[in-house]
Amino acid sequence: MEIRLRSEFTEDYRKVETLTREAFWNVYHPGCSEHFLVHEIRRTEAFIPELDIVAERDKQLVGHIIYTRSKVITTPHCSFETITFGPISVLPAYQRQGIGSALIRHTLSIAKQMSFRAIIIFGDPSYYRRFGFRSASDFGITTADGQSFDAFMVLELYEGSMKGISGVFQHDPVFNVDPEKVAAFDNTFPVKEKRPGETLVGLPGGPSQSAR
Ligand SMILES: CC(C)(COP(=O)(O)OP(=O)(O)OC[C@H]1O[C@@H](n2cnc3c(N)ncnc32)[C@H](O)[C@@H]1OP(=O)(O)O)[C@@H](O)C(=O)NCCC(=O)NCCS
Repeated sequence: MEIRLRSEFTEDYRKVETLTREAFWNVYHPGCSEHFLVHEIRRTEAFIPELDIVAERDKQLVGHIIYTRSKVITTPHCSFETITFGPISVLPAYQRQGIGSALIRHTLSIAKQMSFRAIIIFGDPSYYRRFGFRSASDFGITTADGQSFDAFMVLELYEGSMKGISGVFQHDPVFNVDPEKVAAFDNTFPVKEKRPGETLVGLPGGPSQSAR
């Protein structure tokens, strides 16, 4: 069945938040906050509308990816612009059919055309390495508290684009979600049972917030 990728429109917003909630619900922890995160990201200056893409199948929204501007602080007075995707969601019934990969590959191509130089994310390396992501530690890039770990990854959008760039990664403050605001937002959706999550690794906006 054919997948259609297109920009997200304002009238898709609630449907996309619902599909994000369905994709993340109870995956990393009881409930999820990613639908709230998507809602908030669109209102920030860090939001990149050209990289806000939905996947449709049979005229139904089944997947979504969203990007924000981020940076690597290279010296006390300098930074290097990067971008970050996440949350990325595919409705459970449509997972493992190539839709997530299609959303990623399509937006990598747009990001290159827009002359962005690199993408930095937090996510499962076994999934993201296939797109060319490498460990942030290969580039000397750390989190604010000096950490580097497998789930923290960088993709150069053209060869050598991160050469000589090292420092501290900083994503937009929108990822520091307030649990009370998440709960209030979630109350506007139909009730769903919360159960302990099964996975611990996530992407920015996810369980570790820094890694989603
Ligand atoms: C992650 C997600 C967007 C992938 O989309 P998808 O359409 O299911 O993925 P694709 O069909 O393109 O790719 C399937 C492959 O990815 C792997 N994969 C899917 N989700 C994965 C995950 N969270 N971690 C690691 N691998 C994953 C599958 O095992 C499969 O591997 P294979 O090709 O070796 O068999 C989707 O599964 C999803 O929405 N998950 C819940 C929300 C979430 O966790 N989002 C991202 C957090 S990393």
